[in-house]
Amino acid sequence: MGQEKELQLAAVGDLHCVKNSQGALQKLFAEVPRQADILVLCGDLTDNGLPEEAHILAKELKSAIKIPVVAVLGNHDYQSGKQREVEEILSEAGVAVLNGDAREVQGIGFAGVKGFPGGYGRGTLAPWGEDLIKKFVHEAIDEALKLESALAKLRTVHRIAVLHYSPIRATIEGEPLEVYPFMGTSRLEEPLNRFPLTAVFHGHAHHGTLEGRIANDVPVYNVSLPLLREKFPEKPPFRILTIGSSNHLQRPLKVMVNSQRN
Ligand SMILES: [Fe+2]
Ligand SMILES: [Fe+2]
Repeated sequence: MGQEKELQLAAVGDLHCVKNSQGALQKLFAEVPRQADILVLCGDLTDNGLPEEAHILAKELKSAIKIPVVAVLGNHDYQSGKQREVEEILSEAGVAVLNGDAREVQGIGFAGVKGFPGGYGRGTLAPWGEDLIKKFVHEAIDEALKLESALAKLRTVHRIAVLHYSPIRATIEGEPLEVYPFMGTSRLEEPLNRFPLTAVFHGHAHHGTLEGRIANDVPVYNVSLPLLREKFPEKPPFRILTIGSSNHLQRPLKVMVNSQRN
C-alpha cells in the first residue's frame, strides 16, 4: 500500500456573515490554510441569507483560502428566500455547496445536506394530524433521504457527513431544553448509521456540546463558531480533524482545536 499521508480538515459553522464582517473573517481565514488542507463550512454562512452578505463571504474566501472548501447552507441562509443566489455566489467563489450531493475532495468523500428540525428519540415529531405538521415532518424526512442518497454515492475510504442541523441530541446539550426540537432531529441520524463514516460535522447549536457519537459509534462534532469561541476563547475558532490515508478503521487520527489537542 502507499505511504501514510495525513490530511487536515478544518471545520466551522455559523459564520453569520453580515455586511461588515470583513475584518473578523480575515482574522479567521488567515489561520485556516496554515493548518488545513480542506475547509468545511457547516451552514449559517450568512446572517440573513442576503446576496450582499454572501458576496462579502465569497470575497474573503477567495482572497484568503486557496484550499478546497466544502459547505452546506443553514436556516439563516434561507431567511430572505434567496438561498439559490447565496449558493450561486459561493459556488462562483469555488465553494462546493452540497445540498444532498456527494463530492470527493483530495480522496476524501463528503456528503452534505442542511437537515431540518423535528426533535429526538421519543420526542421526534410524527407526521400526524394537521397538514402543516405532516409537511413539516416530510421536509425532515426528505432531508434524511437526500443525505442517504449522497452517502450511498461515496466510494472513498473516508466519508465525512456535513450538516447544519444536529443529527443527535448529545451535541446540542447546553441549549435550553425548550429549543431541543428545533436544533435538529434523529431522522438525520438514521442514514448516518447505515454507512461506514469517519466523522460527522454540524453547526446550528450555538450553545451545545463539542462532541458526541451516533449509535454506530462515529464521532459527531458540533463546530458552531460561537461554541468554539466559548470553549476555546484563546484560539481561532475552527476544529481540525486529522485523517490518515492508511487508517482503515476510518476513524480520525486526532481532533484538535488548532494546535491544541483536547
Ligand atoms: Fe447559527
Ligand atoms: Fe442555524
